[in-house]
Amino acid sequence: MVFCNIDMSPPSPAGPCAVVIFGASGDLTKRLLFPSLYNLARNKLLPEDFAIVGVARSEKSDDAFRSEMNENIHQFATAGVDEELWHWLEGRLYYLSGNFDDPATYSQLQQKLADIEDKHGTGGNVLFYLATAEDYFAKIVSLLGEAGLVREEAGHWRRVIVEKPFGHDLESARTLNREILSVLSESQTYRIDHYLGKETVQNILVFRFANGLFEPIWNRNYIDHVQITVAETVGVEQRGGFYDHTGALRDMVPNHLFQLLALTAMEPPTAFNADPVRTEKAKVLEAVEPLSEQDVLHQVVRGQYGEGTVAGKPVAAYRASPKVAPDSNTETFVAMKLAIDNWRWAGVPFYLRTGKTLPKRATEVAIQFKQAPFALFRDTPVECLTPNFLVVKIQPEEQISLQFSAKVPGPAVRMNGVQMDFSYKDFFGAAPGTGYETLIYDCMIGDAILFQRADNAEAGWKVVDPILKTWASHPPADFPNYAAGSWGPRPANALIERDLRYWHLYD
Ligand SMILES: NC(=O)c1ccc[n+]([C@@H]2O[C@H](COP(=O)([O-])OP(=O)(O)OC[C@H]3O[C@@H](n4cnc5c(N)ncnc54)[C@H](OP(=O)(O)O)[C@@H]3O)[C@@H](O)[C@H]2O)c1
Repeated sequence: MVFCNIDMSPPSPAGPCAVVIFGASGDLTKRLLFPSLYNLARNKLLPEDFAIVGVARSEKSDDAFRSEMNENIHQFATAGVDEELWHWLEGRLYYLSGNFDDPATYSQLQQKLADIEDKHGTGGNVLFYLATAEDYFAKIVSLLGEAGLVREEAGHWRRVIVEKPFGHDLESARTLNREILSVLSESQTYRIDHYLGKETVQNILVFRFANGLFEPIWNRNYIDHVQITVAETVGVEQRGGFYDHTGALRDMVPNHLFQLLALTAMEPPTAFNADPVRTEKAKVLEAVEPLSEQDVLHQVVRGQYGEGTVAGKPVAAYRASPKVAPDSNTETFVAMKLAIDNWRWAGVPFYLRTGKTLPKRATEVAIQFKQAPFALFRDTPVECLTPNFLVVKIQPEEQISLQFSAKVPGPAVRMNGVQMDFSYKDFFGAAPGTGYETLIYDCMIGDAILFQRADNAEAGWKVVDPILKTWASHPPADFPNYAAGSWGPRPANALIERDLRYWHLYD
């Protein structure tokens, strides 16, 4: 048998550039962005001509910023720290203290970038990373524009990564797109959803479109239904101030869950490039059947956890968490049934759910195939035939499993469900990372395939908007309605069980 000689040589380092991080003293920067930049350096993906400028409000010198980041990297690096390599990166760190609202910050930044360009040869290429609260996104972009910092001239590039959340409903996402695109071109705008940095998520595309085995059966003729679960064991913890204004629906559904839905359900793109892939993702989200008020009341379930026990530890009720209103109606759980109105998926329900303080941390897409005709096994009750599930596990394990029926050894024909597993770790080895490495590197090389285009961001909100509106006019009457440590409120089970189907993850 002949296998193709696949090019396993590592990718080349990005070209010369500077990275400017707005929000340089924040949680995202210290826990995820710096460890990712360090991992890129470790994997030889950063250029020699490179520098980082952190921008935040607090007053501090370059040296104080370096020693702060030194402490952080030793705490948050995903693997041990190579001191020589860290020294290399540390020598390229700079800090600018300034208010995001103040035009003076941007003229100082311009000067700082010019000095850095002279010293480090960054070539005029700059990646601006907006690691700030969403209220600042449009303001920073506007002031970058006024200062001329995002003008691309003389062959250099200027790109902006915008963090999530991208808006809090359809209207605000449209406004944000309008404001950003009045300054930047779409090709300069990189709307990030860090789920797309995960290998298994990207692998959904390869799995579907590079294997002749599954694509022919990836449709309504063979697939019974699809389940997407993002289950967290943690509660709201110290994030009450943010979460109580956001809730599970806004925090998880239009971005993470819909990314998984889009990759699972989209049509094959004409090429593996940013625009064809993003066009197909937008099309499939556009095809989600709009929910009427009645649909929302019938097909969408919300929940909020009360006190309970997770992994043997007592957990206080959501309403008793710091910075959460004692009568809060914010949901910490949501489940829904959606339909995709196109030829591939007509009649195939998609069940989605996500929640906090659930019994198990797990993100997965589970695809249940239709039952085999059971005439051959007349004595076997239908419920004893194991459904064929193909499960793409995204976290904590990165794994693909196929579940099917096999004969139990012995003289009688008895069947049992068995499972075939492919684990990323076993096959390719574990590559410790944060998930942001690929995304930052892709932005440096100008590959937007894993970032959301303006229409992708709006398409997600378009599906969610009727839910937000219906919920606003029908406050929940039964919160808290599930105990921490359970799989959510009972109606979330009824949502799928009334169709004679069952949640795949339920143990
Ligand atoms: N944290 C995460 O795990 C995570 C994960 C995914 C996405 N995100 C997103 O990432 C973004 C940042 O989150 P975060 O948790 O890192 O926030 P954070 O810890 O509150 O950090 C905010 C940063 O912005 C700076 N800042 C705030 N107001 C400023 C102003 N007016 N002028 C100058 N600097 C100002 C702060 O500087 P000072 O400290 O000097 O005031 C700090 O560096 C948010 O959009 C969030 O949704 C975060």
